[in-house]
Amino acid sequence: MRSGQVSGDGPMTARCRGILEAEFGCAGALLTPSCTHALEMAALLLDLGPGDEAIVPSFTFVSTANAFLQAGAKPVFADGDPLTLNLSPESVAGRITPRTRCVVPVHYAGVGCDMDGLREVAGARGIPLVEDNAHGALGRYRGRPLGSLGDLAALSFHETKNLSCGEGGALLVNRPDLLRRAEILREKGTDRAAFHRGEVDRYTWVDRGSSWLLSDILAAVLLAQLRARERIQAARRALWHRYRGALSPWAAREGVALPFVPPDREPSWHMFHLLFPTGEGRDRALAALRARGVGAVFHYLPLHLSPVGRRLGGRPGDCPVAESAAARILRLPFFTDMTAAEQEEVIAAVLELRGGG
Ligand SMILES: Cc1ncc(COP(=O)(O)O)c(C=O)c1O
Repeated sequence: MRSGQVSGDGPMTARCRGILEAEFGCAGALLTPSCTHALEMAALLLDLGPGDEAIVPSFTFVSTANAFLQAGAKPVFADGDPLTLNLSPESVAGRITPRTRCVVPVHYAGVGCDMDGLREVAGARGIPLVEDNAHGALGRYRGRPLGSLGDLAALSFHETKNLSCGEGGALLVNRPDLLRRAEILREKGTDRAAFHRGEVDRYTWVDRGSSWLLSDILAAVLLAQLRARERIQAARRALWHRYRGALSPWAAREGVALPFVPPDREPSWHMFHLLFPTGEGRDRALAALRARGVGAVFHYLPLHLSPVGRRLGGRPGDCPVAESAAARILRLPFFTDMTAAEQEEVIAAVLELRGGG
């Protein structure tokens, strides 16, 4: 703050950008005020508009779809894989039309999607992939970082994420041919970034765009988080494994599924959830945990059944995996600074639950 350089793209942003570009191997990492903004930038960068379709999972946060609706395109909801709950290539294949302009995989809970399968169905038709990597930063798919696998990827640094600066995000531009325009869209439609590099002698209005920069004050907070990333990830990894170790026999006995991680994937250790055999079982478990002061929660209401989703034509039965998961899922408290005693308390409460409630 003393330096006086607190607007966007200052020295703190440059350092964050350096770390992110090295970590993800992308052509450019552009900090944004949120993951939602990064997704909105992606929609504009891919020129989505009226008449275009973006295939998104139904089981996700609203921004995955809203960013494309905002651009005038139609979100088309696809279903998930029953084990990972991630966008299923088969479901995507069935939703592709001549109007499909992008596919948006979400690495749910930080476990990578079947990116090769998605690349096969979308890439074969030249349809770009935009990873909504709000959950998956620092996770891996077949040895490669989540966020480095699509044409574009969006990160979130919201308070609820592994790495946080309160509110924040980034657009990872993996295709070098898109970088220059991405910089322009983010700088209010001007070539100011090129001007700052000395590539043009003045900057001017050259395209559409908005102000999608993150203040350097928040970038300073983010820089500290990025520097602590190994400690943060190690703590979360230990919490995740402690839950799994302690709950596995109970889960097997009660017919409850713990998070499924395919062997070729390394999660980002973003969250830990339980999938109960029935919706009634989940609801009773949720009430029992809350009665003991355990802050268990559930999400997401399938987007195709939300009021907007229904206006877009969504009907019950369109995405059976998403509908079933939404009714049966329960997320356990999971945060970087959780103490062993806090986790023991949650585990003790879960061990008293019955799968059927
Ligand atoms: C899958 C997913 N996408 C996008 C977002 C939006 O992130 P932000 O709050 O940084 O805009 C979230 C936030 O929780 C999310 O879970």
